Amino acid sequence: MDVTGKIIGRGAEAILYLNDNGVLVKNRIKKNYRIEEIDTILRRLRTRHEARILTRAKRVGVNTPSVIDVREYEIFMEFIDGKLLKEVLNSTNSSKRREFAREIGKMIGKLHSAGIIHGDLTTSNMILKDDKIYFIDFGLALHSTSVEDRAVDLYLLHQAYQSTHFRYVKELWRNTEKGYMETFKDWDVVLKRIEQISKRGRYAKR
Ligand SMILES: Nc1ncnc2c1ncn2[C@@H]1O[C@H](COP(=O)(O)OP(=O)(O)O)[C@@H](O)[C@H]1O
Ligand SMILES: [Mg+2]
Repeated sequence: MDVTGKIIGRGAEAILYLNDNGVLVKNRIKKNYRIEEIDTILRRLRTRHEARILTRAKRVGVNTPSVIDVREYEIFMEFIDGKLLKEVLNSTNSSKRREFAREIGKMIGKLHSAGIIHGDLTTSNMILKDDKIYFIDFGLALHSTSVEDRAVDLYLLHQAYQSTHFRYVKELWRNTEKGYMETFKDWDVVLKRIEQISKRGRYAKR
């Protein structure tokens, strides 16, 4: 593999870099602990899967990077030249923070209405650019319309708020729920399920 550009990130599955054209390349790297044939198949499948869901999410009105090209193990996408929401949310003023949280809820509602579960909703997988929030990292995304999958999707975000933005959990969550209700019609059963999930979590800890 020839990585000529600037490395932006290095996760468990992929290396991300900017190429000479200013395009962000997410390259799924070889895993030596897997049998080679299986590794190849998995990386191809996951690359294609992530690119498809990214594109579908954009089509239903969620801000995501545009997919420019897809190769065997690489997604070429628009580089969102902003800041990770995680890094800026705590120092944002309160009315903006509420607005962002509501926007996040609206986008999750759009995903869920389209039968998409993001699978890894944290503020590290959101980029803020020109006051607009982009969802990235659909590597764990899946197609589902189940109440449980939707509730878990949101519950993980609640956990992320709690661990990274604990001072503002309440206002963040209230506004995320508000946005979600605006774009997803079956919000009530999902929000009810989240309460059950959080109780389950508490019992499990004992
Ligand atoms: N389209 C993009 N524009 C700008 N930065 C990005 C983009 N996609 C990913 N990144 C950066 O790379 C990091 C890792 O990308 P991500 O898709 O979340 O991979 P991983 O699966 O390894 O978490 C992100 O946290 C972000 O900082
Ligand atoms: Mg990520």
